[in-house]
Amino acid sequence: REIPVDLFAAIQALKQELNAVILAHYYQEPDIQDIADYIGDSLGLAQQAAKTDAEVIVFAGVHFMAETAKILNPNKLVLLPDLAAGCSLADSCPSQEFAAFKAAHPDHLVISYINCTAEIKAMSDIICTSSNAVQIVRQIPLNRPIIFAPDRNLGRYVMQQTGRNMLLWQGSCIVHETFSEKKLVQLKIQHPAAEVLAHPECEPPILRHADYVGSTTALLKFCQKSTASSFIVATEPGIIHQMRKEAPHKNFIPAPPINSNCNCNECPYMRLNTLEKLYLAMKNRSPEIKLSEEIVTAALKPLQRMLAMSV
Ligand code: 13P
Ligand code: SF4
Repeated sequence: REIPVDLFAAIQALKQELNAVILAHYYQEPDIQDIADYIGDSLGLAQQAAKTDAEVIVFAGVHFMAETAKILNPNKLVLLPDLAAGCSLADSCPSQEFAAFKAAHPDHLVISYINCTAEIKAMSDIICTSSNAVQIVRQIPLNRPIIFAPDRNLGRYVMQQTGRNMLLWQGSCIVHETFSEKKLVQLKIQHPAAEVLAHPECEPPILRHADYVGSTTALLKFCQKSTASSFIVATEPGIIHQMRKEAPHKNFIPAPPINSNCNCNECPYMRLNTLEKLYLAMKNRSPEIKLSEEIVTAALKPLQRMLAMSV
């Protein structure tokens, strides 16, 4: 297989040829972020996928995100550079077990975090992301019991913010569980003026120290507006590429993982995508996301509800 020397130029040429749009999540490697037509958080990416008129969607993110784009565009070709780019949170909620959990609580409304498989979406009433979860739960009548799946950390955070009880599926993200509270506190002592930014997928001991909690887009906006000049960032460090671009004079420090000898704060799934794989996916028009019609039909409804409830 031949790989061109100038991958950026080759990808641009294929984009014209395919009439494709490249959507990338902030956790992608910097080169992919730089070539993308749109970089965003899960909500922004779903909104872009819902409105694109491109014929082909090249999704530089993980499988559940590309599936979301496919559910919103069942007749378009949706490419994912590496089909193995999964998600520990989505994996922590297998559909058979979830179906039994849901059946045991038939009166509950099911709100699922977008980080789940298309099968789980198809079993849900409303989808949410980290940027609209609080806003969506606030719109549900108080007498309606809620199942929230699959992230227990985001679920717990939403419960705190809304004062509402919810039945939580006990899933979690391996990346956001890796941060060390002890090392974070040590870092705060070294940088007393730094503000701590955290994603709500983090565990309570990390969130407790956060000056601001939000989705990746919300964290990016916060550091642009804040008067602080230094930030400790408790989420996947891919976002720091955009933070440095948007606020080059500010200092961004990744929150340290428990094991300092690994890159455990990098999402191993997101990082499976490379510029080379992105080029090959476009050249070969593969690997593509395929979903059955039943799943698309059932999963579309809760996604559309989310989009309608997020405006
Ligand atoms: P957001 O894109 O909503 O910030 O979520 C981060 C994440 O973990 C995506 O997998
Ligand atoms: Fe999934 Fe966590 Fe990776 Fe996001 S960071 S894709 S939640 S494993």
